[in-house]
Amino acid sequence: MNKIGLFYAPAKGSTEKIAKIIAEKIGKDKVDLILVDENTDIDTFKPYDKLILGISTVGRENWDTQYKKVGWDFFLPKLDNANFTNKTVALFGLGNHILYADYFVDAMGELGQKIIEKGGKLVGTVDKSNYEFNHSKAIINNNFMGLPLDEDTQEELTEERINNWLENIKKELDF
Ligand SMILES: Cc1cc2nc3c(=O)[nH]c(=O)nc-3n(C[C@H](O)[C@H](O)[C@H](O)COP(=O)(O)O)c2cc1C
Repeated sequence: MNKIGLFYAPAKGSTEKIAKIIAEKIGKDKVDLILVDENTDIDTFKPYDKLILGISTVGRENWDTQYKKVGWDFFLPKLDNANFTNKTVALFGLGNHILYADYFVDAMGELGQKIIEKGGKLVGTVDKSNYEFNHSKAIINNNFMGLPLDEDTQEELTEERINNWLENIKKELDF
């Protein structure tokens, strides 16, 4: 299949908003936009050799015992059995660089690390010097593994950040 699979979660917030903007910018005919939920499994990814994955960092499952799993919470454990060899993957992550400067877009890092372990090729890394933060699990070789976006405090930078990133991944994701 030649379409890009754009998988994202959670629904209804900034991640979904950005997923729709990215799909629109690439061209809806070239992208399948898919919400990750409890029914998403490895087979859902299989038809796509080009992927864009969107995730926000909230981490409530770490401290809220009442928390019910959503989106990527279901899928991340399933990734242990996945094979991403021959898949080209670009990541975007929602976070808040002021309130969570020590954990900035950590979930994008956790997802990215799994993709690398499972043989996927990550594209669309982003220069960290354009961001202010203390620590992030999403740093690899001194760059972000994907595109960090902060809709909470830097909404005005989002459009330009997306445009630059799409320009960078255009060739590798072939759109
Ligand atoms: C309870 C909570 C915890 C959060 N933890 C982090 C965090 O550890 N790192 C970070 O960069 N952003 C964190 N954020 C900011 C969110 O990632 C940000 O608001 C994002 O836009 C949410 O996207 P969503 O609406 O699609 O879930 C947190 C937000 C909330 C509400």
